[in-house]
Formats: sequence, structure tokens, C-alpha cells
Amino acid sequence: MEILEAGRWAPSAGNSQPWNFILLKDKQVRKSVADATTNGGFLAEAAVGIAVVVDPEASNHSVEDGAIATQNMLLAAHVLGLGACWIGSYGSVYEEKVKEMLDIPKEK
Ligand SMILES: Cc1cc2nc3c(=O)[nH]c(=O)nc-3n(C[C@H](O)[C@H](O)[C@H](O)COP(=O)(O)O)c2cc1C
Repeated sequence: MEILEAGRWAPSAGNSQPWNFILLKDKQVRKSVADATTNGGFLAEAAVGIAVVVDPEASNHSVEDGAIATQNMLLAAHVLGLGACWIGSYGSVYEEKVKEMLDIPKEK
């Protein structure tokens, strides 16, 4: 919760807060997402994953907003003594697969 709170407090364009944080608590879901990535296999072994999703219609800087929220969460994890790593999926070949797995609307 502290990590999510750090993400929630990130600045965003026009205070749009265009993000949703999807907690990947289920091991099988983490494994499926991990298998879809090119450099994120370690997600399968992680205690939890956080998918950072932004709504491009909610902000004119949604990618930057999502990125800064992610950085806030990585820093919070570090302060708490937890290991964490960004796995990039936006614009990649597996973005569509991950959207399906996590029930993220495709049209956005
Ligand atoms: C946009 C972005 C995407 C990244 N994607 C991955 C990834 O898919 N897999 C991975 O292991 N690390 C990924 N990283 C982490 C970088 O590899 C890492 O931050 C970099 O090597 C520097 O290491 P440090 O953060 O420990 O200083 C990503 C980082 C960023 C900013």
C-alpha cells in the first residue's frame, strides 16, 4: 500500500492522474505476463507485480504521467528495502497480449 500511495502522489499533467495500477497478486497471472515479455521473466518469481496503465484520453501527457508514477513506486520500494524492476511493455509486440490478460480495453 505504501508503494501504491507513492505512485498515487506522483505529479501529472493538469492533475489528470490518468493511471490505474493493476496488482498482479495471482501467481498464474504473473507467470502469463512474464512469459509474454521479452525481458521480464523474473516477474513470475516476484512476490507481486504492478501493471501501470494510463488512459490517453484522460491526459495529454499520459505516458509521462505513467512513467513518473512508476518511478515514484520504484523509489518507494527501494526505501522500503524491496527489490523492484520496471518491465516495459508499451508500444511493444506483447502489449496487446498483456492487455488481453489483464482485461485492459484495447481501443485505448
Ligand atoms: C522504460 C523502461 C523499460 C525497462 N524495461 C525493462 C525490462 O523489460 N526488463 C528489465 O529487466 N529491466 C527493464 N528496465 C530496467 C532497466 O534495465 C534498468 O533501469 C537499467 O538497466 C539501469 O539499472 P538500475 O535501474 O538498477 O540503475 C526498464 C527501464 C525503463 C526505464
